[in-house]
Amino acid sequence: MTRYQAQEWDERYRTSGHNLSCPREFLVESLHHLPQHGWGLDVAMGEGHNANLLAEHGLKVLGVDFSIVALRKAKSKYPQLHTGLIHLPEIHFRPSCLDVILNFWFLDRKMFPLYQQFLKPGGYLVLETMRFDPERDQSHLRYEYLIQPRELLKSFSGWDFLVYDENVQATAKGQQQLAVRMLARKPTDR
Ligand SMILES: C[S@@+](CC[C@H](N)C(=O)[O-])C[C@H]1O[C@@H](n2cnc3c(N)ncnc32)[C@H](O)[C@@H]1O
Repeated sequence: MTRYQAQEWDERYRTSGHNLSCPREFLVESLHHLPQHGWGLDVAMGEGHNANLLAEHGLKVLGVDFSIVALRKAKSKYPQLHTGLIHLPEIHFRPSCLDVILNFWFLDRKMFPLYQQFLKPGGYLVLETMRFDPERDQSHLRYEYLIQPRELLKSFSGWDFLVYDENVQATAKGQQQLAVRMLARKPTDR
């Protein structure tokens, strides 16, 4: 099952012409809040456009994904990126070692406590992903891939929310999709 999913993504990255070819707008808008040094982690990085923007901003960046095809494409386009073939949430770092984490269009709730652990006090989490939408038929989407209303506010309670918007109209795979955007800072005393 697992291997199948990774292979499926490999196939998409091998064949698809509709993949993103530039960094996500929300990251571009958030960049001025982020530090210009230290280490960044891009989870489920894909082809590396977001990770590269963070690297151009000044950070050393590790991008992880379970698609070897995506990682190879990222590395050949953006050689300065560090890459890791990782099946999330199987990832380990020592506590408080990262300055920025990017989580774009990927959801695994098991990562949330890891983000709290891996980020330095005052570190930043930039997250954008699909949201549960009561107005649309989302039967083709799995429940575990949809953020529920106010869920992130609860999961990251006590953090400083620089941006929190649950009503972003995004286009994913050619379809209108409700998304959530969050730029949050881990408290400096944790
Ligand atoms: C929708 S794409 C998002 C890519 C990129 N973050 C972006 O914003 O364009 C989802 C990515 O998650 C990766 N992925 C899905 N499940 C994963 C897992 N369990 N471990 C690692 N990567 C995973 C896929 O290979 C794919 O690159």
